[in-house]
Amino acid sequence: MSAQKNQATKIHSGPRNSIDDRLGDEARFIRRWLENPRLAGAITPSGRFLARAMAHCVDPAGDGPIIELGPGTGPVTQALIARGVAPERLVLVEYEPSFCHLLAKKFPRAKIVRGDAYRLRDTLADHIEDRPAAIVSSLPLLTKPEVARLSLLRQAFDLMGTDGRFIQFTYGVKSPVPAHVGGSLHFKTQSLAPIWLNLPPARIFVYRHVDCPHAVEMPPDMIDKLLQQSRRFGLEIRGEFEEARARLAPNASKANISKSRHS
Ligand SMILES: C[S@@+](CC[C@H](N)C(=O)[O-])C[C@H]1O[C@@H](n2cnc3c(N)ncnc32)[C@H](O)[C@@H]1O
Repeated sequence: MSAQKNQATKIHSGPRNSIDDRLGDEARFIRRWLENPRLAGAITPSGRFLARAMAHCVDPAGDGPIIELGPGTGPVTQALIARGVAPERLVLVEYEPSFCHLLAKKFPRAKIVRGDAYRLRDTLADHIEDRPAAIVSSLPLLTKPEVARLSLLRQAFDLMGTDGRFIQFTYGVKSPVPAHVGGSLHFKTQSLAPIWLNLPPARIFVYRHVDCPHAVEMPPDMIDKLLQQSRRFGLEIRGEFEEARARLAPNASKANISKSRHS
C-alpha cells in the first residue's frame, strides 16, 4: 500500500485542547447562540468525531486553497490541520468578528476572511488566486431559503471548477441542498454514514459538480475505526470529568478517592 493511501485511511486523533480551552470555546459558542441562534446554527461547537470525519473528506496532499465556511471556534480547522493540510492552504470565512479574532490567534498561518459566505465570490475576490481544491462548510444552511443554498453551491463550483468538492454537515437526514431543481441535475450528492458520536448526531454530504469525473471515496474502514475509538473516547471523557470535578470540588473528589481506596 502506498504511503499516500496509508495516510488517507489513517484517522488522526488530532491535537487535544486543554479542558479550559474547550470550556472556553463552549462558553463563547453558547454566548453567540444566545445572541443570534440562526447565525450560530448550533449551541455548541462540533465534536471531535464529526470534525475528523469532515477533515477526512479532504485530500491533504492536493494543491490549491481549502476554504472553510463558518469555522466558528475552529474544531474542523484543527482537524484539517491534524489530517495533514498545510495551514497556509486554509482560508477561513467567518461572519462573527469575535470568532475571527479567536481563529487568528489559534491559527496564525491560516488566512482569516471576515465576511458573508453566501456572497462567496465577492467575499473571496481579493483573497484567493488559485482554484480552491475543496470547500468545507459548517454553515447552518437550513436557516436559509433554498435559493440561497443553491446559489452558494453554484458560486462554489464556479470557483472550484469541475474537480472541486463541497463538504457540508447537517443535523437533518436529507441533503440540505437539492440536487434536482426544475428537472435538471446540477450536483452529484453523496451522503456518508451518520456520525452518532456528536451532539446532536450529524450527517456529512459531499457534493461534486455534475461533470466531475472522479468518484468521492471514503475509506471503507473509516466508520469502523471511528466506532473503535468511541470506547477510548468514553474513557477520555470520564478522565476529563474527574479532572474537572477535582478542580471544581476538590474536597468531594478527595473524599471520593479516599472512599474508593478504602472500598
Ligand atoms: C454551526 S456553527 C459551526 C462552527 C464550527 N465549524 C463547528 O463545527 O463547531 C456555524 C458557523 O457559521 C458561521 N456563519 C453563519 N452564517 C455565516 C455566513 N453567512 N458567513 C460566514 N459565516 C457564517 C457562524 O458564525 C458559526 O461560526
